[in-house]
Amino acid sequence: MPLVNPKTGTTVDEIAEGIHRISTPVSEVPGGFTFNQFLIMDEEPLLFHTGPRKLFPVVKQAVETLVPASWIRWIAFSHVESDECGSLNEWLAAAPGARPVCSQVAAMVSVDDMADRPARGLADGEVLKLGQHMVKWIDAPHLPHGWECGYMMELTTSTLLCGDLFTQGGADLPAITKDDIVETSEIFRRQMDYFSHTTNADVLLDKLAEEEPEVLACMHGSTYQGDGGAMLRSLAKSFRKG
Ligand SMILES: [Fe+2]
Ligand SMILES: [Fe+2]
Repeated sequence: MPLVNPKTGTTVDEIAEGIHRISTPVSEVPGGFTFNQFLIMDEEPLLFHTGPRKLFPVVKQAVETLVPASWIRWIAFSHVESDECGSLNEWLAAAPGARPVCSQVAAMVSVDDMADRPARGLADGEVLKLGQHMVKWIDAPHLPHGWECGYMMELTTSTLLCGDLFTQGGADLPAITKDDIVETSEIFRRQMDYFSHTTNADVLLDKLAEEEPEVLACMHGSTYQGDGGAMLRSLAKSFRKG
């Protein structure tokens, strides 16, 4: 994994064509943890997750190994939480042409008030063209948490930017794995109970599985390459067991 910051251990890896994973290990969570952001390089570069506000200088430095921060056009995230969008305003200041992009609910409830510039709220199924890459917004309220929650599917690489789904604990996991990530993430879910217990989980996971992603870009832990639809269906099955 190419190390871009020896002090923080931050690494940058291309996990699909033009999609780069920035990963910083932290020790605050027992057993270690990672905060990952994903940069889609294109005519209109998009950053999915900003990382926590206190990590802003670290994430910015990592982004700048790929593209000047001022070139970023879209700051995207799954739901409103510090690791998702804690440095949103810092990014809007660093990138004068950038706008937040999130669900319509997120824009209405939080982002249009919290952010220094108005958000682009995407409807369920709406596609945003970045150049070669295209991201489709998928609403997923309360999966795993947050009324405003949703995900982005990058259509040309079949990459699902899947936020907190499949969160894996540990600080020294590989950038990419082809191994099952359901079991490891389910251990973490049972310990931390960070899911909302929405009764719609089955329907929403099925909706995500229907996209048949080939890459699952997880916010915490390794990126999975393989049959993402099967992983999502396996996660739904595991939920049903409790
Ligand atoms: Fe979250
Ligand atoms: Fe998270």
